[in-house]
Amino acid sequence: MTSDDRLRETRIPLTHGSGALPAVGFGTLIPDPDATGRAVKTALEVGFRHFDSAERYRNEDAVGAAIHAVFRTGAVRRQDVFVTAKLWNTNHRPERVKPAFEASLHRLQLDYVDSYVIHTPFAFRPGAELHPTDAQGRVAYDPGVTLIETWQALERLMEEGRCRSIGLSDIGLEKLREIVAVARIKPAVVQVESHPYLPEWELLDYCRAQRIVVQAFAPLCHAMEPRLLDDPVLADIGRSVGKTTAQVALAWAVQRGTAFLTTSVTPHRIRENFEITALPEDAMQEIRDRITTRVRFNAVVETGVPGFIPRASAKSGTGR
Ligand SMILES: NC(=O)c1ccc[n+]([C@@H]2O[C@H](COP(=O)([O-])OP(=O)(O)OC[C@H]3O[C@@H](n4cnc5c(N)ncnc54)[C@H](OP(=O)(O)O)[C@@H]3O)[C@@H](O)[C@H]2O)c1
Repeated sequence: MTSDDRLRETRIPLTHGSGALPAVGFGTLIPDPDATGRAVKTALEVGFRHFDSAERYRNEDAVGAAIHAVFRTGAVRRQDVFVTAKLWNTNHRPERVKPAFEASLHRLQLDYVDSYVIHTPFAFRPGAELHPTDAQGRVAYDPGVTLIETWQALERLMEEGRCRSIGLSDIGLEKLREIVAVARIKPAVVQVESHPYLPEWELLDYCRAQRIVVQAFAPLCHAMEPRLLDDPVLADIGRSVGKTTAQVALAWAVQRGTAFLTTSVTPHRIRENFEITALPEDAMQEIRDRITTRVRFNAVVETGVPGFIPRASAKSGTGR
């Protein structure tokens, strides 16, 4: 391994929790449980040591079974893997937090998680339905609980030693500031959509100052239009360093100080996404200066309802 290859081994120490987050992460938002299991197993085999999961993905059992199958071979140990679980919107009421957490641990077959994250800042009507609606078919929010009350329930879980850090997801800067201002335990991580078309510099600067780690989801724009994977600036850099466009985007994510969560069910892409190497500083600057397309692909941050929005093409800015 050359010195450049060390980028993929980057671990970001958590200030507001214990342990360190491997910057190269694998997400498990994969609808089919068998495909989830195969992808997680391949990801562990190629070297991923950071896995994101969520009760809403309804595949925690498959994630747990796949990681344990690899643990049993002795090739990877539990302590070498960073696992995130996420609390769904219907479980924001403090009395629902611990049972939801325990149920996730049970499905993942783990006795602790490295990070427990509030999936979105939006509370939905509590109950068994993941997406409750009112009589008009609109999302049924829960006005009976505040985000800080949910956060305090997570703080208690962390104090009980069941999770080594806690975090937030799909949160904007303003709400994040509010939580940081009153939290006894600050968020160790914040998981948000981020990629060269949504760099979130302001949020990143704030998180750096607060020593909060940003986990970037959809680092490859979910392979949607407008296609980051065909971006000419990234493709040119890729040609000059002998890497694919995807690898350039992922290296950029790590070099600017975030962790990323990429997903693939395709074994050669899973390997490709792990095999990133450091970019020259001028390439980092070029990405910042020359890519002006700005797109948010997932509306979850506005409504609490996750989902990537297909669109033909949405470019703005002056350069391209
Ligand atoms: N907190 C939240 O609200 C939230 C929301 C969304 C996602 N997430 C997390 O973030 C994770 C990643 O999100 P994402 O799925 O949008 O990630 P992504 O890596 O940006 O997009 C995945 C898509 O890109 C394709 N792809 C992956 N690697 C590729 C490569 N090297 N070349 C070409 N295409 C490639 C995959 O296709 P194939 O599978 O066909 O290979 C898949 O269609 C999720 O699994 C989840 O854990 C969190």
